[in-house]
Amino acid sequence: MDRIRKLLAEFRRSDHKLSWLRDQFKWRYFAFRHKKQLRLNLMFDRLHAVDTAHELSLAAAGVPAADVARGNGVYRPLTGELFREAMGSIDIDASAFTFVDIGSGKGKVLFMASDYPFKRIVGIEYAAGLHEVAVRNVASYRSERRQCTDIEPVYGDALAYTPPPGPLVLFIFNALAPDFMRALLQKLDTDAASEAGRPVILIYTNIRSVSEIGGAFDGLRNLQTIRRKRRFLVIANMAARASVL
Ligand SMILES: C[S@@+](CC[C@H](N)C(=O)[O-])C[C@H]1O[C@@H](n2cnc3c(N)ncnc32)[C@H](O)[C@@H]1O
Repeated sequence: MDRIRKLLAEFRRSDHKLSWLRDQFKWRYFAFRHKKQLRLNLMFDRLHAVDTAHELSLAAAGVPAADVARGNGVYRPLTGELFREAMGSIDIDASAFTFVDIGSGKGKVLFMASDYPFKRIVGIEYAAGLHEVAVRNVASYRSERRQCTDIEPVYGDALAYTPPPGPLVLFIFNALAPDFMRALLQKLDTDAASEAGRPVILIYTNIRSVSEIGGAFDGLRNLQTIRRKRRFLVIANMAARASVL
């Protein structure tokens, strides 16, 4: 009752009643989906003998206070549904590609990627506490669908990281704040120019909307957006474009 009274008072005070209602609806719907998602995430953990489901603030995971905001403040695992939808939009011979999850947290995306026959799977993570959990998870992970056993979590900053040579699928689930995402993309774009022969595909996902990253993808010269959906987008260099559906 008290909560309803508070909400009504807030509504009365708001200058833009329509946008107040829109925001309320948006966040309530997100909270509802989020709760449902936690149950699915916990099922993933039980099924595969890992610990990835629970969110954690980056400060609690060992990121220095000055660096927390550039990583969006919180660890949260990607949903299986969005991962499969995004991966379903590219058509590649995975065995020729290395898969890199940028901001790999406790490793859930690495495990989901191992359902595909990638040559190798790497995760780069700058929160020491999350990296340690990922290393333990790699040791305990089990799955009947697994097609790649070479999974390596790396502790480090994505902005200082050089991806391995050869064809690449880079994957990002809302890991970096927009300015840092732009810096990372520009670095990858320059690398793509100097290694024009190798296919590079980058998949960016956001459980709410890719529009949250703003114009970070604008103005790239070698990596071009080839697919844009509400919750993921795919960019690729020329050498990879033929591989993407
Ligand atoms: C939304 S979580 C996604 C975790 C993982 N990809 C998954 O879906 O299970 C984003 C992750 O990116 C990491 N991160 C943010 N900025 C980073 C950076 N500059 N270098 C490496 N990791 C970073 C955070 O610590 C966090 O674990």
